[in-house]
Amino acid sequence: MKAGTPDSEGHKPENSQNHHHRYRHYFLRYGSRVPLVLGAFLVIFFVLYRSASLFQVFPRWSSSSSPFRQGSALTNVPSSAPEKSERDKLNDVLEKAAMGDKTVIMTTLNDAWAEPNSIFDLFLESFKTGIDTKRLLNHLVVIAMDQKAYDRCLILHPHCYFLITKGKDFSGDAFFLSPEYLDMMWRRILFLQSVLELGYNFVFTDTDIMWFRDPFPHFYSDADFQISCDFYWNSWDMKNNPNGGFNYVKSSNHSINFYKFWYNSRTNYTNMHDQDVLNKIKYDPMLREIGITIKFLDTAYFGGFCQPSRDLNKVCTMHANCCIGLDRKIHDLKIMLEDWRKYLALPDDERASRPNSWTVPQNCSLKGLVPP
Ligand SMILES: *[C@@H]1O[C@H](CO)[C@@H](O)[C@H](O)[C@H]1NC(C)=O
Ligand SMILES: *[C@@H]1O[C@H](CO)[C@@H](O)[C@H](O)[C@H]1NC(C)=O
Ligand SMILES: *[C@@H]1O[C@H](CO)[C@@H](O)[C@H](O)[C@H]1NC(C)=O
Repeated sequence: MKAGTPDSEGHKPENSQNHHHRYRHYFLRYGSRVPLVLGAFLVIFFVLYRSASLFQVFPRWSSSSSPFRQGSALTNVPSSAPEKSERDKLNDVLEKAAMGDKTVIMTTLNDAWAEPNSIFDLFLESFKTGIDTKRLLNHLVVIAMDQKAYDRCLILHPHCYFLITKGKDFSGDAFFLSPEYLDMMWRRILFLQSVLELGYNFVFTDTDIMWFRDPFPHFYSDADFQISCDFYWNSWDMKNNPNGGFNYVKSSNHSINFYKFWYNSRTNYTNMHDQDVLNKIKYDPMLREIGITIKFLDTAYFGGFCQPSRDLNKVCTMHANCCIGLDRKIHDLKIMLEDWRKYLALPDDERASRPNSWTVPQNCSLKGLVPP
């Protein structure tokens, strides 16, 4: 569900309008030759975009065999000493943050969300006001996608990793489904695969998810890959609408091969982001061959604006999904934190007995977003 997708708010209308203005300007000046030139440019761009270095996170250190082999775009990249140290740098950060069983909590951050009074501040605040969640900050690794986000992370948090991405600028609000946006989302999948290959389990959380309670008691013990939902039916049904913004993945051959398959599937579904492709491949017979067990997390505990966790006595996390526009998101997340504080301030018996729920979404409109 696109509207519920992490970063879907990364939509900056002004930007696209600027582009349109610029193109119109070229059209007026150069007339009909423009489509040809533009077409040629797009072809060149596409070839470059597809080519090796842009997709490269860092060289794969585990050789893998078909059918989960990385595409040639990746294997052709020569490995070199400085890049290899990226792996060690990542491992150092993960090691410091990991729990005893090699589990880390991870989020990705870019400039726009890292600004003061933006999403990242609210995210950290939720951990501090949640029940027994403050200690989990010791296990949170922030993956900065640009220099500004990295600098800001270093000020606020002990575990920051700068995902160096050659020749790419992921700062700002990437336009939804633009090449930059797609590249950013797919790079995330590739990166998380690397984390699994290093032997770490992870809870991946979008930064626009508020943590109110420890989620670990509510994870399934018998699933390699568990994922939150925009709309939830039951724990096993592939018809659920998974939301890639929150998932818990255990490192194993199953999960590593699943991430490889997921990443490689992007070429079968062009112009789709990771979540839409997941919605396609979740029915693929290959999943059985890979041996991955997928389960869906109940919105009663892992809710969002699409389908809120109604009972504040149960909620673990709440996602600002089904919300378009960064300002609206910030507005409603602040109210959500306020609701939570009011709930915590109630006397114990009242908290337990009276049904308490949210006063959000308000500005995050759900209009037109209905379960399929
Ligand atoms: C995972 O794969 C590696 C390499 O192919 C193999 O040595 C190992 O036994 C596998 N582990 C499990 C649990 O299947
Ligand atoms: C992509 O499609 C081809 C042809 O249908 C299929 O053989 C291949 O397994 C698919 N790859 C992935 C990663 O889905
Ligand atoms: C939120 O909604 C209120 C009432 O419609 C409006 O006045 C306010 O400007 C909105 N704020 C944002 C950030 O969208």
